[in-house]
Amino acid sequence: MTTRTLRYSSMIIALTGFMGCGKSSVGRELSTLLGIPVVDLDKYIEQKAGKRIPDIFAESGESGFRKLETFCLSEVLFAQTNLPSSSCSEDGTVSEDTSPEQSFILSLGGGTIVRPENVEMIRERCRVFFLRATVETLRLHLGGEQSQRPLLRSGGFEALLQERAPLYAAAADYIIDTDNLSPMQIAGIIANLVT
Ligand code: S3P
Repeated sequence: MTTRTLRYSSMIIALTGFMGCGKSSVGRELSTLLGIPVVDLDKYIEQKAGKRIPDIFAESGESGFRKLETFCLSEVLFAQTNLPSSSCSEDGTVSEDTSPEQSFILSLGGGTIVRPENVEMIRERCRVFFLRATVETLRLHLGGEQSQRPLLRSGGFEALLQERAPLYAAAADYIIDTDNLSPMQIAGIIANLVT
């Protein structure tokens, strides 16, 4: 497959949206389409902490997780990309063979936009795409995985979604309604907007 060329030489494409909206799978498809790496913020956090996200929540609570999330976000957006000759991959590792002007896709966590300072950093550095989906689609996508999301264990799915919907929209440059679309189709829509 031929990869498509980005409109700007250095671009960070951020994917935001509620848990289960497909940020990670769309990120992977988009990475193939555009030939640029994808950084998954949740994986980056897990690597940094040396622990799985549910364990971070269990040991440090949501506030501990959010602090770490903000720290990792700033590292991904400001520190790592400024390292000479560095690029980041999905598992958070840094490789030494590409230019500092590296573009990449950043798959955010579902709650990254809850902190205004995170939104400020994201808006400063990224082109932001909100992958919007209905409760039905989100539940379908999450299936049995709901138990792995600490914030969904005690219920409150719809209330949390309602509370966050305006935050995703406010952080976004583009809103994509993703119901009934495959990750490949969504990636195609985003690719059309950035190439
Ligand atoms: C969270 C979403 C999760 C993860 C953590 C908190 C949230 O990411 O960052 O469990 O607050 O919505 P995904 O949206 O990738 O599942």
